[in-house]
Amino acid sequence: MDWKGKIIVLCVVLGACSQATHESKIVSKPIAVQLMLKDDCFSCHATYEQNIAPPYMDISKRYAEYSEVVKPKLIQKVINGGGGLWYGGNMSPHPFLKPEEVSGMVEWVLSLDERDSTDLKKSESLKNTSAEGVFAVEIVQADLSFIHGYVDQIHLETDQFLEWQSAGKTLRFSANVELKIPGRYMFHLHKTGQGSLTIDGQVVISNRAKDMEAIRTLTAGLHKIEVTYIPLGKSDALKLSWLTPTMSHYHVMKF
Ligand code: HEC
Repeated sequence: MDWKGKIIVLCVVLGACSQATHESKIVSKPIAVQLMLKDDCFSCHATYEQNIAPPYMDISKRYAEYSEVVKPKLIQKVINGGGGLWYGGNMSPHPFLKPEEVSGMVEWVLSLDERDSTDLKKSESLKNTSAEGVFAVEIVQADLSFIHGYVDQIHLETDQFLEWQSAGKTLRFSANVELKIPGRYMFHLHKTGQGSLTIDGQVVISNRAKDMEAIRTLTAGLHKIEVTYIPLGKSDALKLSWLTPTMSHYHVMKF
């Protein structure tokens, strides 16, 4: 079976992924998102999951039509804190952040929606940039492993699962990834069945349906990344994306 052909859905190498901005007073998106990871922004918010604060993706969708108009207000709200619009919670004030930093953060949040649909289809090869590795795939039924293969990314959709629908099958992907850049990494495991992610033997995203995101500080060097997945239904999908210290948005993790 041609695993690569089966599993790689679409991989369009991004030609020009940086959007030049001529506004000098805005911190670039990769830097802004790293600032958000270092600050407390992800302790109340997640990108896709709903916590006590709205997911950044929902904020981006809400203001998609008039993001330029609303941007100054959002910057003020992050700096001053406040509530009353979403689910009844309050955002803490952030008086020590510089307006240009918050401006970059708000730009990142507002750009999520427009990028999401395209990022599903595009994935950037990481060769010579930040990481190297390959996923070994195993499909196991009970204790009997019966299919092996290698893939350079985890991105499966619906019909590829059809032949695996019979009960009790587990897919296991594991890779020893050599990270070249140390720093904060965000992982997003989009899953419709039961899926989990472990890094260096520790569960960072559990099997629970609502658990889909994780942030970890990783050193340069080898890390073992494993995804275990049990397909549940006919419209299953599984995708592992990440945001590295040098990327501006999530991408399917691809080597
Ligand atoms: C203490 C929890 C908490 C922290 C920390 C936090 N937020 Fe929020 N944030 C919220 C809540 C709650 C809301 C919804 C407020 C409302 O209902 O009006 C919100 C709303 C927002 C909004 C949308 C505002 C609107 O009017 O629609 C943006 C943008 C935002 N946060 C960005 C950030 C950024 C950037 C950071 C980090 C600097 C951050 N948040 C840190 C809780 C938090």
